[in-house]
Amino acid sequence: MVIAFRREWRKFATNTRPTTMKSIIIALAGLLAMSTTACAQAQKKENNTRMEHKTLVAYFSATGTTQVVAQKIAKAAGADLYEIVPEQEYTAADLDWTNERSRSTVEMKDPNSRPAIKGGGVVKNMEQYDTIYIGFPIWWYQQPTIINTFIEANKLDGKVVKTFATSGGSNTKRADALLKATYPAINWRPGTLLNNPSAAEIANYVK
Ligand SMILES: Cc1cc2nc3c(=O)[nH]c(=O)nc-3n(C[C@H](O)[C@H](O)[C@H](O)COP(=O)(O)O)c2cc1C
Repeated sequence: MVIAFRREWRKFATNTRPTTMKSIIIALAGLLAMSTTACAQAQKKENNTRMEHKTLVAYFSATGTTQVVAQKIAKAAGADLYEIVPEQEYTAADLDWTNERSRSTVEMKDPNSRPAIKGGGVVKNMEQYDTIYIGFPIWWYQQPTIINTFIEANKLDGKVVKTFATSGGSNTKRADALLKATYPAINWRPGTLLNNPSAAEIANYVK
C-alpha cells in the first residue's frame, strides 16, 4: 500500500506545476500544525481532569485503631492524609464511657459540642479534592463531635464524602443518618465499618 501511494505521489508531483506543488505543501504543513495544536490541547485537558480527581483521607483517632485503617486507605487510594488532632488530646479518663461525667460522655450528650482542632482543622487547598474519606471511631453509636468541628471548618458542600469507622461492634447507621441530616449539601455516600479490614476490603472500599 505504501509503495502504491509513493508511486501515485511521484506521478502526481511530476505532472503538477511547481507553483501548485508549493500551495499543496503549504496547505499540508498548515494541517500538520493544526493537528499538533489539537493534540497538545487534548493532553492538557486530560492532565486537568486528572488533577480534578484528587482524594483526601481525613481521620480522627483517639487510641490509634482508626489511624491504622486511614493509613491503609490513603495508600490504596493514592490519597493525601490529614489527621484531625484535638487541641486538647483525650486522656484515658476523658475516654471513660462508663463515667457519665467524663469529657467524652459530656461532649457526646451535647449535640452542639464542637471540640477544637489543633491548628483550626482547615485543610490547605481543600478545593483540589473532590472525594474525601472521613474516618472516626464510633462513640455512643455515632461520630465523635470533633468530626462536626472538622466538617464545619471546611468547605465540603457538593463534594463526595464517604465515611469509614472502627468500633467495638456498632455499625455506622446512626452516624450516616445524623451527618446526612446535619449537612445535606454534601454528597454523602454510605459509611462503612472497617474493623480489622483485609486488603481486599480496603481495595473494595476505595473503588
Ligand atoms: C467514648 C467512647 C465511646 C464508644 N462508644 C462505642 C459505641 O457506641 N459502640 C461501639 O461499638 N464502640 C464504641 N466505642 C469503642 C470504639 O469505637 C473503638 O474502640 C474504636 O475502634 C476506637 O478507635 P480509635 O482507636 O481510633 O480511637 C467507644 C469508645 C469510646 C472511647
